Amino acid sequence: MTRKLLASAAAAAMALTGIVVAGDAWAASTLGASAAQTGRYYGAAIAAGRLGDSTYTRILTSEFNSVTPENEMKWDATEPSRGSFNYSGGDRILNQGIAMGAKVRGHALLWHQQQPGWAQSLSGSTLRSAAINHVTQVATHYKGKIYAWDVVNEAFADGNGGGRRDSNLQRTGNDWIEAAFRAARAADPAAKLCYNDYNTDGINAKSTGIYNMVRDFKSRGVPIDCVGLQSHLGTSIDSTYQQNIQRFADLGVDVQITELDVQQGGNQANIYAAVTRACLAVSRCTGITVWGIRDTDSWRSDNPLLFDGSGNKKAAYTSVLNALNAGGTTPDPDPDPEPEPGAGCTATLTPNTWNGGFTANIRVTAGGTALTGWTVGVSLPSGSAVTNAWNATVSGSTFTNVGYNGQVPAGGSTEFGFQGTGTPPTAAPACQAR
Ligand code: XIL
Repeated sequence: MTRKLLASAAAAAMALTGIVVAGDAWAASTLGASAAQTGRYYGAAIAAGRLGDSTYTRILTSEFNSVTPENEMKWDATEPSRGSFNYSGGDRILNQGIAMGAKVRGHALLWHQQQPGWAQSLSGSTLRSAAINHVTQVATHYKGKIYAWDVVNEAFADGNGGGRRDSNLQRTGNDWIEAAFRAARAADPAAKLCYNDYNTDGINAKSTGIYNMVRDFKSRGVPIDCVGLQSHLGTSIDSTYQQNIQRFADLGVDVQITELDVQQGGNQANIYAAVTRACLAVSRCTGITVWGIRDTDSWRSDNPLLFDGSGNKKAAYTSVLNALNAGGTTPDPDPDPEPEPGAGCTATLTPNTWNGGFTANIRVTAGGTALTGWTVGVSLPSGSAVTNAWNATVSGSTFTNVGYNGQVPAGGSTEFGFQGTGTPPTAAPACQAR
């Protein structure tokens, strides 16, 4: 019945645009395949200990195209004693993901919870170096295999006006988060690096604190690629849920819904559908992960998942599938191309018409290797000329660093500007490392 209604509604919509669709072949029939129609993934948190359960594994392999280890890559699991690493559980999840052709999300390199006892008892610079070593070792072990890492989990406080949570990690210094992101980037340059948190599922003081951190990281060249919104939800969804996703996307990071589960009750199916639609509406929302498969696999006791304890699809499942099949925006596969490691530098231009001529600001961003000098070539419209430059020397329309801004750390950036007559340049400038 539902299928028939949907099919005819779609046929009517298609008829308006003159496209004829044969039956309802347009609708994919699993969560992963439906999400893939718009370039996204639909994932589940999985537990190594459940992979022997045939119902569990059947649902996993047929429905999902991303996996996250529920506990197996956490600090207590991967480094049970200091400097001695155990990847057995994490590798089982990784191999399950690889066997399925799924994206594997890494979760989580640093968190105030599920720390091994030895780390809980450390503090100060000893803890800081143990933590950074942990990031480096684990990210190196999984190098090239992880789609996105939750580098830091849950570092912001609830009800502290957008401030940080107190923790042993926080007490090592406010810069612990950026130190962790830099270490993760150095260890696995291919993984997207995410900051992940809960109670951030709308515009509120906590999500704004995180937003400000991401904006700061972006402006200072601290590597960050994505924000995870856990989305452990109750009986309602914040009216600013989509707007919140969008504002993070507008900072130039991807957004992922990382741990979705929704309290069972009258609204469960609607809330699941609303989350799905919100993600599909934002091109940089790249995928959704539910935190478990069946209600009986959940860490919560309020039946928050898409399959019941017997593995049957719930109403929430159908509402998600329908929302995925209704489409959405297609993500740009490379919306904000990061410079490739070793690729030298990139430059972006912000022109400004001014006083009968123009000024232009150029941001030079280093690739995966630190710069020791740079030149930027700008192509000027005919009739335009450069009259003077600041924070660079100029010859014609080629600009070279001055003494104090030639050194740019990997991923970092610096700016210079110039003034000219005529109309401002519009073409992207070309940057070269020297
Ligand atoms: C939970 C797991 O589901 C449980 O099995 C474990 O006992 C505790 O952690 N936020 C997170 C996840 O980032 O790692 C948590 O997972 C749920 C809350």
